[in-house]
Parts: sequence; C-alpha cells; structure tokens
Amino acid sequence: MVSIDEIKRPILGKSQSVEALKKMITRVAASKTNILIIGESGTGKELVARALHEMSPVASGPFIAVNCGAIPETLIESELFGHKKGSFTGAHVDKPGLFEAADGGTLFLDEIGELPLSMQVKLLRALQDRAIRRVGANDTIKIDVRIVAATNKNLEEASKKGTFREDLYYRLNVILLETPPLRDRVGDMELLTEIFLKKFNDKQKRSITGFTPSAMEVMLHHRWPGNIRELENVMERVVTLESSNQIQVNTLPPEMVVAARKAAGISREFTLRSNFIMGPMDLEKVLQEVRDFYKREAMLYTKNDEEAAKKLLGL
Ligand SMILES: Nc1ncnc2c1ncn2[C@@H]1O[C@H](COP(=O)(O)OP(=O)(O)OP(=O)(O)O)[C@@H](O)[C@H]1O
Ligand SMILES: [Mg+2]
Repeated sequence: MVSIDEIKRPILGKSQSVEALKKMITRVAASKTNILIIGESGTGKELVARALHEMSPVASGPFIAVNCGAIPETLIESELFGHKKGSFTGAHVDKPGLFEAADGGTLFLDEIGELPLSMQVKLLRALQDRAIRRVGANDTIKIDVRIVAATNKNLEEASKKGTFREDLYYRLNVILLETPPLRDRVGDMELLTEIFLKKFNDKQKRSITGFTPSAMEVMLHHRWPGNIRELENVMERVVTLESSNQIQVNTLPPEMVVAARKAAGISREFTLRSNFIMGPMDLEKVLQEVRDFYKREAMLYTKNDEEAAKKLLGL
C-alpha cells in the first residue's frame, strides 16, 4: 500500500496540526469505515479525500467525486443511484449512477451539507443497506464503496436545527478529520510560500528569491479566508506582477495590506495594554524605548540614510 509520503499530490505542511492530520490519515486509510472531513474552503478537503483513496485497500478501484451542492434537487437521486429507461421524461436509456460507478472504490460526497433533506433519507438508506435502487427500478443492486464526505458547514449544528438528519450525520461521522485553516498554522507560511514561489518561478521563467521582511509581515497577518487556494492564487499573482527579484509590499493585493496593517495595529495595542496590566510602569522609559526602537528600524530600513530615516519617522 502507498504511504502518505508517496501520494501523488502531497499534503504540504510541517506544523503540528498538519502532522496530526497526516498521522490520522495514515491510521484510518486502511480501513473501510466512513470518514467525514470538515474544514474551511481551500484547506485541502478534496486533497485529503484523494490521499485516503490512494492509501486505501481499494486504491486500484475508481475514485468518484460528486459535489452535492452543484446538482439540482430534481436530478440528484438519478445522478447518485441511476435510473431505469422511461422512469421520467428524458430517461431514454437505463443509466447507472455514481454509486455504481464508484463500486469497488471510493465515493467522495463533497459539500454533503448541501444535500436536500429528501435525499438525505435515501442516502442513509443506501449506506445502511450497502445497496441502491435505480430510480424507477424494483430491484436493488449491492454496492461496495468506501464513503468519504466533506463539508465546510457545522453539521452538528445543522442537525440540531433540523436541516441535516442526525442519523445520517452519525452514520457519516464514524471518523472525523479536520483540515486546519491556514491562519492557525502560520508556522507553515515560509515552507508553503517557498514551494509556490518555486512553482511559479518555474512556470513563468522568473527567479524571485522571496519576500521583503515587511511583505512577509503582511502575509503572516492576513486572515486567509480562502486558505491554501487563496495563498496559491496570491503567489501566482505576485510572481506575475513583481518587477524586482524580491516581493515588495506594494505588489501584494492592496486589500490584504490594509487588513494586515489593521491587524498589526490591534496587536500593537494589545502589547502595550499587557505592559500596563503587568504593574506600575515607567512611562518615560517606555516612550524612550519606543523612540529608540523606531529610530533603529528606520535606519535599518533606509540602509543608514539619516535624512530618509527622519522622513520615514515624520521628524
Ligand atoms: N495542505 C495542502 N498542501 C498542498 N496543497 C494544498 C493543501 N491544502 C490545499 N491545497 C491546495 O489548495 C487547493 C484547494 O484544495 P481543496 O480543493 O482540496 O480544498 P477544499 O477544502 O476542498 O476547498 P472547498 O471547500 O473550497 O472545495 C488545491 O489546489 C489543493 O491542492
Ligand atoms: Mg472541495
């Protein structure tokens, strides 16, 4: 069997949360239990599903991915279970569904939280019986598939609210894997940017060496709502736009820079506040330290150009 270090598209990251995820994947890939993957958009849920398949005993079988949110409600039953000729207008031939297509392999039910309630009952039935019935058919067909489902919704909450069946939730959630958001693993930023930089340098015949310290600062403060997908897009964009051999702050998307400055401002406020909480302070001493700090920074930034440093400091 294939190990996690041999999969086609590696799961990148060295942070604790990614290492823990990879360990879990290794532990559960060999079994045929249902797996639920939860995580924000762009955190690699599909990547993990593919890894689970490649590392499983059914790796030589098909891997079929279906986006439950992208199929109209009226078609989804026939998509998943197939239909018999003449069972509805437009059903001109007998057609197998995705369950049958995935027989002997893995069926990846992406965005499972979008599945309409009426379909959730039928899916639960199929999982319990390990068999499906094509739309319009009388007989059932035995199916042997490994089910991996994914969602960026809180299904536990949805099941309490009644928009997702609790019994289906428990059926899918035999093993739960969580893909961590990028902002919770900023320790991986250096590694990830290096890998994407190499990829886009190669693709665009460039030789950009890295980020200026302040540009990296912005990258580290950004919230990355689109996670790795967003990071990859930003990297492609900056490699295209950067004219020097180092990525400058001004090459980053402006909205990212603005947001990062705000976040940095807030964290500065917190630092100052915690100083205050720690007890009686010497205000003059602290102010002098701040002055000295920014003077040194400005001199470093301007490579010891005193005039330029004064200008930067607004003196
Ligand atoms: N840990 C990772 N290592 C390498 N690439 C990653 C990682 N996580 C995500 N990616 C890449 O980011 C992109 C998005 O990943 P993927 O489609 O698996 O995310 P997702 O969680 O399914 O997102 P969505 O909920 O939006 O469908 C892909 O190009 C994928 O290869
Ligand atoms: Mg996805």
